Amino acid sequence: MTSSRTRTAVITGGVSGLGRAAALRLEADGVSVVTLDIADGADVIVDVTDAAAVRAAADEIGPIDILVNSAGVVGPNAPLWEIPLDGWRRTFAVNVDGTFHTCRAFAPGMRARGWGRIVNIASMAGKDGNPNMSPYSATKAAVIAMTKSLGKELATSGVLANAIAPAVIETPMNADTEPEALAHITGLIPMRRVGRPEEVAELIAWLASDKVSFSTGAVYDISGGRATY
Ligand SMILES: NC(=O)c1ccc[n+]([C@@H]2O[C@H](COP(=O)([O-])OP(=O)(O)OC[C@H]3O[C@@H](n4cnc5c(N)ncnc54)[C@H](O)[C@@H]3O)[C@@H](O)[C@H]2O)c1
Repeated sequence: MTSSRTRTAVITGGVSGLGRAAALRLEADGVSVVTLDIADGADVIVDVTDAAAVRAAADEIGPIDILVNSAGVVGPNAPLWEIPLDGWRRTFAVNVDGTFHTCRAFAPGMRARGWGRIVNIASMAGKDGNPNMSPYSATKAAVIAMTKSLGKELATSGVLANAIAPAVIETPMNADTEPEALAHITGLIPMRRVGRPEEVAELIAWLASDKVSFSTGAVYDISGGRATY
């Protein structure tokens, strides 16, 4: 594929926070962006937990080159033994099933065309396990492992699948995080500040481009120095 053809990206969670910043950043690179979100303002309004709806949306959208999975929820904040089962399941439904549904719907087309970039937004929580955030942490570990498997499966296809693991970034999601849990994870950042969505969008844009060529199934840190592995 020549670089002169306009590429198309689907960004789940594309109307808010990191998804929105990624949409603006990719558009600045000349990419045609389709936002897919449960919230008003999205180009395509779909609940990523609904496999059939994601499949129907993929058919409607047609061929794409880039998939960014940013739709996600924090889920319940409490010690594991106090987590309600429905909150546990809902967090997995959005963060894990949602990522699975979109990868399953869009990866085959990219593979058939011989070029694609998949960027899954995981979290430092998936590497470290944040206290009082066991559902969220477990879902993000699942996203990391899913991306590692997918990256290997697609390794010779021209489609690269990578994950990123941000620490706390200034987005509306933090309003859903219990203040004590938020203060704890913010205090772990050696740079002593939270990240900005534009900083994360820069990494996403690189992972969505031709500039990344020898990485797949990898997990990219963006944590102000918090990550130790
Ligand atoms: N903000 C942070 O500190 C931070 C840190 C690490 C990882 N992340 C991850 O980054 C991603 C984006 O988070 P954000 O901070 O931009 O949050 P956000 O709340 O600003 O945006 C999340 C978006 O996902 C959408 N969404 C939620 N459930 C959905 C569903 N079922 N179907 C379709 N869309 C749905 C929301 O409508 C929203 O637009 C998430 O996966 C989050 O876990 C965020």
